[in-house]
Amino acid sequence: MVKFMEFASSNSIFGDVYFGISFVVLGTVLMGSLWYMYRTKSCPKQWRADGKTILITGGNTGIGKWTALELAKRVIARTETVSGEEEGGGKTARRLLIPVIAISVTRGEEAAEFICSKVPCALVTVMKMDLSSLNSVRHFVKEFKAKYDKLDILINNAGVALVPLTRSEDGYELHFAVNHLGHFLLTCLLLDQLKASTEGARIVVVSALAHKFVSINLKEINSEEGYVSWKAYSRSKLANILFARELTKLLKGSNVTVNSLHPGIVETDLLRHLVVYKVFRYCAWPFIKFFLKTPREGAQTSVYVAVSPDLAGVSGKYFSDCDEASVSKEAEDDHLAQALWKMSVEMTGL
Ligand SMILES: NC(=O)c1ccc[n+]([C@@H]2O[C@H](COP(=O)([O-])OP(=O)(O)OC[C@H]3O[C@@H](n4cnc5c(N)ncnc54)[C@H](OP(=O)(O)O)[C@@H]3O)[C@@H](O)[C@H]2O)c1
Repeated sequence: MVKFMEFASSNSIFGDVYFGISFVVLGTVLMGSLWYMYRTKSCPKQWRADGKTILITGGNTGIGKWTALELAKRVIARTETVSGEEEGGGKTARRLLIPVIAISVTRGEEAAEFICSKVPCALVTVMKMDLSSLNSVRHFVKEFKAKYDKLDILINNAGVALVPLTRSEDGYELHFAVNHLGHFLLTCLLLDQLKASTEGARIVVVSALAHKFVSINLKEINSEEGYVSWKAYSRSKLANILFARELTKLLKGSNVTVNSLHPGIVETDLLRHLVVYKVFRYCAWPFIKFFLKTPREGAQTSVYVAVSPDLAGVSGKYFSDCDEASVSKEAEDDHLAQALWKMSVEMTGL
């Protein structure tokens, strides 16, 4: 090794390349380590959601599952008297209940078991809803209203990304249908339940930094011409912020707030629809994994926006890493937000 270094320093071209590469590698490792240490702020544990009824879309995996778990830890258990028959004895017994609700399309029961294994007294209700189907959303809302008379926290978390051109059952481009339209209809149909929240309700919209890389032409939003999946995804995330912006105006004077956020770049299976995903995951993941947030870390900003006492009454803002952040110019366009709202009403038949 010493001889090699002597050779490197005696040979000027080789030496320059050698030291150049060493500098880049060491620099990357150092910067990476610093970034890793300071990359995530956590939502303080003492900020609670006791007594709240919480609805999370896409709660079965990724960021949604960890958001559900983090919130389950912040809800005081209440006790309920149950009859002896149910408990298998002859007497009455008391059982702990935590009103956390996770919603998912599939694999929801696994997530519920996972949450209950960490918070044994958690009550996690799994209800099915396919956000790509407006019928399914309507059906879900009916079922939800029959079960619960109020909703305190709605977290619009579910999403798809980088899907090859696909149409929803209602004929809309899939990113737009799931990430925006499904959540648009769900939120609008649940507004009465949210307004019934005694302490004030919060709507949390999980958007993405990707909204900054695109603009929206409403006339072309459902067009097949020149379809590029990452643009379609980014547009749907821009639509999330415009939706939150317009809804903030419509909810002015009510006890409901709405804010959007970027969760960070998180190690989940969000890109599972990408054709080369498996190869990518196998070859590149071990190298980039180090720079990604874990799903638990990715859930922190959603939890922060849902429970932070500092955000009581705060509406229409965008957050990243448990802090307010800036959005793109287009995401601040009130005319666009209004036009998108009008179009969404027509598309969902609201
Ligand atoms: N991961 C990141 O780096 C990142 C970065 C920025 C923003 N985000 C946003 O964070 C949110 C959560 O993503 P994630 O990373 O946790 O991804 P994920 O692990 O793939 O989770 C996505 C969730 O959405 C659900 N979902 C997909 N299609 C649905 C449909 N038609 N109806 C109902 N639910 C549906 C999935 O359910 P199934 O499993 O049953 O399909 C899953 O529970 C998304 O909105 C995403 O845009 C993520």
